[in-house]
This record gives sequence, C-alpha cells and structure tokens, in this order.
Amino acid sequence: MKAPVRVSVTGAAGQIGYSLLFRIAAGEMLGPDQPVVLQLLEIPEAQEPLQGVVMELEDCAFPLLAGVTTSDRAEEAFADADYVLLVGAKPRGPGMERKDLLEANAAIFSAQGQALNQAARPSVKVLAVGNPANTNALIAQHNAPDLDPRHFTAMTRLDHNRALAQLANRVGCHTREIRGLTVWGNHSATQYPDISHCEIQGRPAPELLETEWVRETFIPTVQQRGAAIIKARGASSAASAASAAIDHMRDWALGTPEGAWTSMAVPSDGSYGIDAGLIYSFPVRCSGGDYRLVEGLAIDDFSRERMEATAAELREERDAIRHLLP
Ligand code: NAI
Repeated sequence: MKAPVRVSVTGAAGQIGYSLLFRIAAGEMLGPDQPVVLQLLEIPEAQEPLQGVVMELEDCAFPLLAGVTTSDRAEEAFADADYVLLVGAKPRGPGMERKDLLEANAAIFSAQGQALNQAARPSVKVLAVGNPANTNALIAQHNAPDLDPRHFTAMTRLDHNRALAQLANRVGCHTREIRGLTVWGNHSATQYPDISHCEIQGRPAPELLETEWVRETFIPTVQQRGAAIIKARGASSAASAASAAIDHMRDWALGTPEGAWTSMAVPSDGSYGIDAGLIYSFPVRCSGGDYRLVEGLAIDDFSRERMEATAAELREERDAIRHLLP
C-alpha cells in the first residue's frame, strides 16, 4: 500500500463538501491504491455540523481513508497538504454588489493563500471551486509566493461536463464519444464553450451541428446552466460540482485519457493572446502529475470575440481587487 497523501478541503460542511468528501475517501479522486488523510476546514459556527460529517465518514469504514482532521484554522488544515480543494466561500447576500462579493472573498482567499504558503507541501496542487473561482485562485496564488504559481487552478470542469452533456443529448451519442471540446475563460456567464475543434463519434462537430443551434441554444444553455439548476432545485449545483472537482484533480494527478484533452482554468502564459497571469480556462492535457496547454488551435473571428469578452471580465475582476494583491 502507498503512503497516505493529505487532501485539504475547505467549506467541508457545505453542500459540495457533503458530496465530495465521501468520493475522495472512496478513492475516486486519486485512485484505488492511494490512501488519503482528509484535513477539513470550516468556520467556527460550522464545526458542529462538520463533526456530523466526520462521524458519517467513519461509519463508511472506507479502506483508503487513513485519517480525518478538522479545524477552523487554515494553517492547521493545510499542514503538509498535497492537494487542496478551496470550496468554502462567502455566498452573495441580499443587496450585495458583485464588487462586495469579490472583496469579501478576496479577504478569505488572501488569508488561505498565506496559510498555504506557510503550511502546505511545496508541491501542493490547489483547486479553487468557491466563487468567483478564477479570481479567488488568483488571490490565493499571489499570497503564496513560495509555491509554484502554476499549481493554482480554478474549476471550469463543471462547465466542460455540462457542455459535453448538451452535445451528447443533441446528437444522441454518449459523452465518451466526444473529443476536443474547450471551455475558455471565466467560470461565469461569459465563459465560452467552443466546439470548433470538437469531434463527435470521429466526425467534426461543426459538420454535425447547425451553427444557429450552437450560437443561439448550446452556448447560452451551458452559460446559464447553473441558474437553471438553482431555479429547478432551489439550491445550487452540488453533486455535479463535486463530481467535476474530482474529475479536475484526478486528471491533473493521474492524467487525461490518451488523445483527449479537458478544460482547466490555469495561469495564462500568454498563449492565444490571453493576458499572462490571468487564471483563464484553457484546453489542457495532463500526464505525470502536470498539465500542458493544448497549443496551436486555429481561432476564428467568432471564437476570438468570445474569448476576449471573457478575458475582459477577468481583467475587471482582477482590477476590482488589485489593491488587495500583495
Ligand atoms: P455552501 O454554502 O453549502 O457551503 C460553503 C461552506 O463554506 C459553508 O459550510 C461555510 O461555512 C464554509 N465557509 C465559508 N467561509 C469559509 C472560510 N473562510 N473557510 C472555510 N470554510 C468556509 O456552498 P456550496 O454549495 O458547497 O458551494 C461552495 C462554493 O462553490 C460557492 O462559492 C459556490 O458558488 C461555488 N460553486 C462553484 C462551482 C464551479 O463550477 N466553480 C459550481 C458550484 C458551486
């Protein structure tokens, strides 16, 4: 049996946490031969419900679960962490402006970035799920100067998976039969799900799908899917978000399937004309515990405009909290 790795999860008593922790402990994130220690962070008011979640984790008697710790101190929860899922965030309250939300979360993610810098392993891989995810990842990254800046990522995998599902429904195939989809940009309504390079059952997607459907139905449906779920369920996506977080970390740690790529929001290196440093969703391939951007895709005018619009939103978010970046 391998030595256990340490996985820290913030917001562990929340909705996503409740779907996420059990799957990590079951080996779905890091594989069936990798024991894990879960290190759970919650605010002081949520420590009691968190104890209930820990009791349930114990009651599953997971063979791979090597231990569980809880804390309301980030340095403690991130101690020697190998993987960190930053799920906890401040939700938008009544009357709260977008800027207030950005600032409230900037405070949380600055402190957590500093704690990561102090306590986590130098090789730690970080995924921001809590919204605004891309900018939260940027803030944590800027507050952790000793860690690898490339290891700060944000989740657009849920958007990617949602787009796969829409395409599969439209064509009448399985999501497994779709390759080469990309979600570009921000995890927000400006994201751009791009089918230009997509193949469905080995055939180019642009030949199978009418342009009007792609532009007028597919793109807005994927962009607005989160809101549609809130409307139907009365609560935001949780199990699908947890599943996407598992997919993101599993692919990063264990690799994307041969010949396939996925979408991850990662620090831009300037590829595709996107400002270097922004945490922007790109097509990536993963292997050996690392990710590489898929380079050299042809970008048409329609795509360029969409990619720029979502980059502009990320620049605005960054500028709104710039005074909080060290
Ligand atoms: P939730 O409100 O059920 O749970 C959030 C938990 O975080 C709460 O238990 C809260 O006590 C905790 N928390 C708040 N501040 C904290 C802090 N400073 N440190 C540690 N824990 C803290 O929310 P849910 O549904 O679990 O969603 C979590 C976040 O994920 C939200 O920001 C949501 O918008 C975001 N999200 C992101 C998605 C994506 O695709 N990137 C998809 C779905 C949700």
